[in-house]
Amino acid sequence: MCGIVGYVGKENAVPYLLDGLSRLEYRGYDSAGIAVLTDKGIETEKCTGRVAALRDKAEKHNFSCNLGIGHTRWATHGEVSERNAHPHVSYKGDFAVVHNGIIENYATLRDKLKDEGYAFLSDTDSEVVAHLLERDYNGDLISSLMNTVKKLEGAFALGIICKNLSDTLILIRKESPLVVGKGKDGFYAASDMGALCGVAEESITMNDGEIAVITKEKATFYLSDGNEVFRRFEKSNLCASSAEKGDFPHFMLKEIFEQPSATEHTYRFLSSSGTSSTEELSFLPSLLQTTDRIYIVGCGSAYHTAVAGKYVFEKLTKLPTEAVIASEFCTSSIPVRKNSLCIFVSQSGETADTLSALKKAKEKGATILSVVNVPESSIARKSHKVIYTKAGPEIAVATTKAYSAQLITLYTLAAFSGYYLGVINDGDFRYYMRELSCLPKKIKNILERENEIAEFGKLLSSESSIRFIGRNTDYAAAMEGALKMKEISYIPCEAYPAGELKHGTISLVEKGSITVALCCNDSIFKKTANNIEEIRSRGGDIILITTEKHTEDVTVINRKIIIPDTDDLFVTLLEAIPLQLLAYYTAKEKGCDIDKPRNLAKSVTVE
Ligand code: M6R
Repeated sequence: MCGIVGYVGKENAVPYLLDGLSRLEYRGYDSAGIAVLTDKGIETEKCTGRVAALRDKAEKHNFSCNLGIGHTRWATHGEVSERNAHPHVSYKGDFAVVHNGIIENYATLRDKLKDEGYAFLSDTDSEVVAHLLERDYNGDLISSLMNTVKKLEGAFALGIICKNLSDTLILIRKESPLVVGKGKDGFYAASDMGALCGVAEESITMNDGEIAVITKEKATFYLSDGNEVFRRFEKSNLCASSAEKGDFPHFMLKEIFEQPSATEHTYRFLSSSGTSSTEELSFLPSLLQTTDRIYIVGCGSAYHTAVAGKYVFEKLTKLPTEAVIASEFCTSSIPVRKNSLCIFVSQSGETADTLSALKKAKEKGATILSVVNVPESSIARKSHKVIYTKAGPEIAVATTKAYSAQLITLYTLAAFSGYYLGVINDGDFRYYMRELSCLPKKIKNILERENEIAEFGKLLSSESSIRFIGRNTDYAAAMEGALKMKEISYIPCEAYPAGELKHGTISLVEKGSITVALCCNDSIFKKTANNIEEIRSRGGDIILITTEKHTEDVTVINRKIIIPDTDDLFVTLLEAIPLQLLAYYTAKEKGCDIDKPRNLAKSVTVE
């Protein structure tokens, strides 16, 4: 989704702005632009498409400037075009602004400004901010900015430069993230830490409502009431290597192969020594005393981890547990109460739908526990308790290692909860922990069979649609398999609970149509196996994913991927690995833009 960068310092701003935008590319965007302050005033360059094209255009200008802002836009208001790309410049050219988020009352503001004679060049909600800044400027920067901000409704992060403030970068945060970095030669701004990789040695994550006024020499922070607030820069632990593909052709493949370590680190971080005492989850016993119901909430793949987690929590804690799509959570009357535990799952920690659901649950008095991969993200900051997954930065839009780290987190959390509640005994607890500790090695084992799975991927690339079926924990995996395949290969896919087929969907089965069947949950193996036969007897083709213990039972099926055995509760995690590889190799065969699929964003910051 949209990304912001900014620079003020002793060096030329342009290289950082462009490199910073490149580092934000993974978030997903469709156009990009920069605005810099030169001796001619504010100058801009924009283009649709990739940052590389913007780089070519910008380098021709040879801009000489120490101050600038940049933006990658993911269209919300107005088509993808240079005209709608940011930065937007005010009517007289005094201000340029880049914006993330949505100005909800932009139409009213635009009409008013139009009545006052302001001409609009774009269809965006963001352009009103540029004109308002110019109209409200009264010589006193902070009071002028406050005047503008109080007219804006919605969530936003703004980066601003002003023609008459030759070395001043202005940043404003309301609900949409912004980070300020300090390097050897100046200050940097970005909408996520990734853009500061390799340049900033220290950083500050801005708080909601803060305004930052940054010059070459110093960064000053103000609260929304205009009072100055002291903020300390902290050493950044930013590692450029996570932003490199290494020997892998795509970030997605690299991240698929990072799953043994992502799950291992996450599991070890949570479970300490595998005993029943864990520092990271020490808050659990008292929290569980008052919990009578659990909701696990997320979007996309994070929602799929919620579905898998629901089965595990229900079995190990015996507490009623529901998996809810965050955007649905916001619009329905789910009976969340004081004794509800709401677990919000999000890789980015910035997903607007999840944030809204979190706010709603908090208003209702529920306890908020989040499972988040990005430290200091909005969801982490707004939760009562946070568990950080240890997947490391994830660059590919299609999540893989963050998804598996979320799963192992929910599994571990459920095992500890069951034990603390007295639902599972000491022996059972140790059994589950042992199973969990073996998962990273089993993932590695599946990854060693990459070539075999790649062949199935190539085969699927000519399909016009693919069904994914499974029951219970296998169904949770089917949902994720279908999403992964859709998002990167653009093949229409649907996931069904296997038992539902005969209630309608089986009418789609015809000779040669393809179904990926997940059949790893031992307790329901026979039932799903029957559903597979129903498909085969109608001429449908099957790619089967099952476990070692069933090898002998499935000899009649030619196309199969056999994965290691584990407890039924945890199969979803192991099933994800061949499903990710299938999607990857299908998309590769089709020549798709795997790391940056069309229309998608890594961090979805609008509702
Ligand atoms: O950052 P989040 O985990 O909150 O993101 C949620 C979804 O947008 C995300 O999982 C999305 O479905 C991925 N593209 C799936 O690969």
